[in-house]
Amino acid sequence: MRGGAQSHLMRCSDGNDYVVKFQNNPQHRRILVNELLGTKLAARLGLPTPPVMIVEVSEELIRLTPDLAMEMPRERIPCQCGLQFASGYPGDPRRMTLHDFLPDEQLRQVANLGDFLGMLVFDKWTCNTNGRQALFFQEPRPSQHPARDSSAREEAPRPYSALMIDQGFCFNAGDWNFPDAPLRGLYARNGVYEGVTGMNSFAPWLERLEKQMTERALDEITKQIPPAWYEDDFDAVLRISEQLLGRRSQVPELLLAAKQSDRQPFPNWI
Ligand SMILES: Nc1ncnc2c1ncn2[C@@H]1O[C@H](COP(=O)(O)OP(=O)(O)OP(=O)(O)O)[C@@H](O)[C@H]1O
Ligand SMILES: [Mg+2]
Repeated sequence: MRGGAQSHLMRCSDGNDYVVKFQNNPQHRRILVNELLGTKLAARLGLPTPPVMIVEVSEELIRLTPDLAMEMPRERIPCQCGLQFASGYPGDPRRMTLHDFLPDEQLRQVANLGDFLGMLVFDKWTCNTNGRQALFFQEPRPSQHPARDSSAREEAPRPYSALMIDQGFCFNAGDWNFPDAPLRGLYARNGVYEGVTGMNSFAPWLERLEKQMTERALDEITKQIPPAWYEDDFDAVLRISEQLLGRRSQVPELLLAAKQSDRQPFPNWI
């Protein structure tokens, strides 16, 4: 796949397809922690994320698959074997078209556009130092007999849905600090925030953040993370959890700082 982490599309033993990020990706080993922890927390907030898994890639598969390598400026390094991060492909990659971007007009018609508000709450909370990334796809039509029917149902355009991907730069990638800044975590197009009329628009998400992102919820997820991903430094993981708990109440001020920035991401804030 394209992108800085040089992930690979792989079919796993459950028969499903996943985009896999390896421990020795060029970004940082901790990216895998950020993806697993970040995506599971976002899902817990009720945001649309792909199913995420820890998958094992064998030494043999890597040895027999020359493509399973990281392209570095001067060399190719084979992917590392062992436990890796996998993000579920939302359908059959041979049939489903995924879009990294949509033109503004189609963007406005995305069925779950309001989820970008929740995602901004999440990205401010976790200090995602990358812009927000999403994938867009159309739900497949109910299966139909190929010879019949196909023309009859074609007219109605199916709306797009957004899926929130790439939590790799939450907690500032490999640095695991929280350098907040007004524009961080925003989606590239302001159109997704047209529904924002004030802090109230974020209230349902802020409420969930306070109620559901408890110490227990964080513990439950962090203990699932393979220790190799954080190089056995569990204390560092615990420090992120503590910071996250403390930061929940700071999200409204972080949103206000975005609102007051020159970019004016919320055109309808009154
Ligand atoms: N769950 C998924 N299903 C389908 N495609 C995906 C999924 N996750 C990622 N992709 C695709 O793989 C590409 C790389 O993924 P991602 O953005 O997470 O990796 P990255 O290497 O961190 O990229 P970046 O350069 O943005 O940091 C995405 O642009 C997207 O097209
Ligand atoms: Mg990305």
